[in-house]
Amino acid sequence: MRRTDVAPGPGPNKKPMTCITGIITGQNQTMVPYHGIALSAFILLVTIHFFRKVIRARKVQQIRQQHGCAKPRHYQHKDPILGIDLFIATIQAITNGTSFKFFHNLFGKYGKSFEANSWGTKALYTMDLDNIRAILVTSKEKFVVEPARMPATEAFLGRGIFNSDGPSWEQGRAITKPIFARAQISNLDLLEARVDVLIKMIPRDRTTVDLLPDLKRLFLDTSTEFLFGQSADTLEKGKSNFDAEKFLASVDRALQGVGMRVALGRFAFLQGLDKSWRQACDEVHAFIDQHIERAIKDSAMLPMDKPAVASPRYILLDELVKVTQDRLYLRAQLLNNFLPARDSTAIAIANVFFHLARYPRVWHQLRDEVLNYDGALTFESLKHMKYAKFVVNESLRLLAPSGRNIRICNEDCVLPTGGGPTGNQPILVERGTEVQFIFRSMHVDRSIWGADADNFRPERWEKLEPNQQRAYVPFSAGPRICPAQQMVLNECTYILVRFVREFKEIINRDPEETFIEQHKLQMESRNGVKVAFIGTLMDSQESSRSVTESLYMASTAPEKHTTSLQEVMQTRDPEEVLDYNDFEGPEDPSNPINWPSKYKWTIVASINANVCLFLFPCVWVMNVGKVNALNRTFATIMCTPAAPEILNEFKTDNQLYVVILVSIWEAGEGIGPLFLGPLSELHGRLLVLHTANIVFVLCSVSCALSINMGMLIAFRFLNGAAVAAVVLGPSIIGDMFVQDQRGGAMAITLFGPIIGPIVAPIVGGYLTQAIGWRWNFWVIAIATGVFELFFILVFRETYKAAILKKKERTRTKYNDGLMHAPEIKNKALAASLMKASMIRPMRMLFLSPVILVLSIYMALVYGYLYVVLTTMTEVFDTNYHFSRGGSGLAFLGLGKFSLIPTAT
Ligand code: HEM
Repeated sequence: MRRTDVAPGPGPNKKPMTCITGIITGQNQTMVPYHGIALSAFILLVTIHFFRKVIRARKVQQIRQQHGCAKPRHYQHKDPILGIDLFIATIQAITNGTSFKFFHNLFGKYGKSFEANSWGTKALYTMDLDNIRAILVTSKEKFVVEPARMPATEAFLGRGIFNSDGPSWEQGRAITKPIFARAQISNLDLLEARVDVLIKMIPRDRTTVDLLPDLKRLFLDTSTEFLFGQSADTLEKGKSNFDAEKFLASVDRALQGVGMRVALGRFAFLQGLDKSWRQACDEVHAFIDQHIERAIKDSAMLPMDKPAVASPRYILLDELVKVTQDRLYLRAQLLNNFLPARDSTAIAIANVFFHLARYPRVWHQLRDEVLNYDGALTFESLKHMKYAKFVVNESLRLLAPSGRNIRICNEDCVLPTGGGPTGNQPILVERGTEVQFIFRSMHVDRSIWGADADNFRPERWEKLEPNQQRAYVPFSAGPRICPAQQMVLNECTYILVRFVREFKEIINRDPEETFIEQHKLQMESRNGVKVAFIGTLMDSQESSRSVTESLYMASTAPEKHTTSLQEVMQTRDPEEVLDYNDFEGPEDPSNPINWPSKYKWTIVASINANVCLFLFPCVWVMNVGKVNALNRTFATIMCTPAAPEILNEFKTDNQLYVVILVSIWEAGEGIGPLFLGPLSELHGRLLVLHTANIVFVLCSVSCALSINMGMLIAFRFLNGAAVAAVVLGPSIIGDMFVQDQRGGAMAITLFGPIIGPIVAPIVGGYLTQAIGWRWNFWVIAIATGVFELFFILVFRETYKAAILKKKERTRTKYNDGLMHAPEIKNKALAASLMKASMIRPMRMLFLSPVILVLSIYMALVYGYLYVVLTTMTEVFDTNYHFSRGGSGLAFLGLGKFSLIPTAT
């Protein structure tokens, strides 16, 4: 076809002209030039567009006037054409895990509803209750999802309940909703066995675990079973009989691509060029198709005239097959359910534990409720767990897995509020506007939830005001409300109750107090949910044994890092039971190991100085922590040279009293540690040491004031029982020093007990000789009393658990103003620790041959030592006629030979 012909005409220089009909018909009717037509068409289009705009503007104006609308405030863009600045700021906030705060601040600045430019399209952001209710409920038909979801998801999901509107959505909803209603009951059975497995995997000894990955696995298993009839079986390693890892990798890759398509918006088609994404989608489709074939085959095998036997569990695919056997439709519905189901329940319940770990008070209150009911956990019985439900609700209020949602306005709509300078006038949302409603912001709106809106306080659910009920939409509201809502709530409550029954305590192990967002399909905690659990009474006996036995071992053990439960199961060494990786990083100044070494070695050096300058009482008081060890030995022996005077004063010549006066102390010293050790692990070294030292001083005063032998013996016993420094001294060293330094520090502390037997009888002898035996006890009481005053001033808590508990208390106080938790924790733990620590030494003594043999040997050595100590004075006094003070000097030989091995 010739497009132009030379027209007969005006002259050779004239350009040929082409007629529009000629173009169409190919005939030679050239009359009007092309560019003239193009120009006319352009002008026509512009004019039409202009007139449409004018008509539209007039209509908008009319609606505004009719409803008294005012414009909402507008985001101050740097780029007013495409609004890229807001897009970049949003992406930055998402990357930083602070998008919620970011939007909350914007609402603070612009009001609860404001407009912005989103890639050249008008967007409305709102957290306003009335507006959100209008979008979801009262004007729901004007706000659709398909334009926002379909382009990004169709290639992977097909058309289904999640990404479509109209008949396609209605049909999907009508089929699936009743299945969810029935499944909420049967799915608890699916869950039970898996929760059993999960609970068994959790260590009960305070090892840190991250609950999030394993809860995700658990729910992936239940949701694949519920949707397709085959569980991915990812919770237990090696259980899956198909390549679950590969399947999951394909799912993740496919979803990642969907995310990318959402981000690309109108350029989503570019993502389709990515072959690996298409391959991942194909693999997921193949997996689902194979289950569809299985379900269709199964349904064909059912006799036509007989209804299907009621299945003990509901499988969505099997139920859908009863309605249609259109394979593409089935796949689309399954995937449309799989997408919102993926991870959301796991994140929801993980967030519940996130809160409970930070609010121990709530955990204990929950336990009170749960332990009141010991029957089987059924759908019915869960209904009675009121407080458990409150906890789940409250957690979903503060941390709903999907905190915001998008709708596209497809018809002009007036929203009740957000316009004008006060933000109280109605606003007009024009069709085509993208509406982002941030319901997570509404969930913490103080005008709705009160001043404590940010606090986790399940009690508020006891009595919810009507607008609070309306403002709670973690599952959305209106016709598109999550069809799985009830099922999910039951599952969350079930898991929570099972955990609360199983574990006595939950401890936060995440150094980050606040929730840092990680946006995937839903919003989860970037740091995971790192917690530690303490088991019930029986378990805690085990755990307390671990605490005491591993006191030194733990601090030398390699640092343990947070692991998923699966890793714990594979790598856990039962001996490495204490997780000391609790401080905020290795440099945390509250960790005694990081205290200035000057301070730490001053404590130890003062012990050494005590040895050298023993006779100066001021040196005794310098001896922080360890001087008592010295005083203890000093006090034990000091009364030995005084024994004859004591017998004399109490008018008895029974030599047995000499032995009793010395050894009763040791009896006390044997019993005291049974209480002091566990108490120091519950309340910290500081409190126990102070209390014991004060008791020690009082007992020494009582000894000095004794009016008969019985009284003296009784207070000597109590004196012995109160020597906390000897029991806790090595622990304090262990708290403060790393392994390399510990040996030196320990050797120094041993000087005290060795110097004691050397010097005490000398001092005791001369004291008795000079001013009487009672002064032995006065001197001890004064020295330890003065020391204790100094000790109160300088000594700080060294026990990590107590330091961390104090931090936790401060936090709890800050968070909800209540401080019951630590006390409740301690009561039960104290009882179990006491019991365990009393039984354990007996068990170890009789059941371990090594300990038994060594104990017998030590008993003999100690026996000989005490025979010597108690008879030496008498021997030198009677046989060699030494003075009282002089007989004490005879102990020097013993001390000299004890010192040599320690020094070397
Ligand atoms: C804690 C867990 C869950 C939360 C918080 C949640 C929340 C939501 C929300 C907010 C929506 C509304 C989306 C919208 O308005 O566009 C929704 C929709 C949906 N959810 Fe859930 N969901 C959860 C678990 C599940 C599970 C486990 C399933 C399936 C097994 C599921 C299936 C669906 C479906 C099919 C829709 C689309 C409903 C419709 O558009 O009509 N959800 N969900």
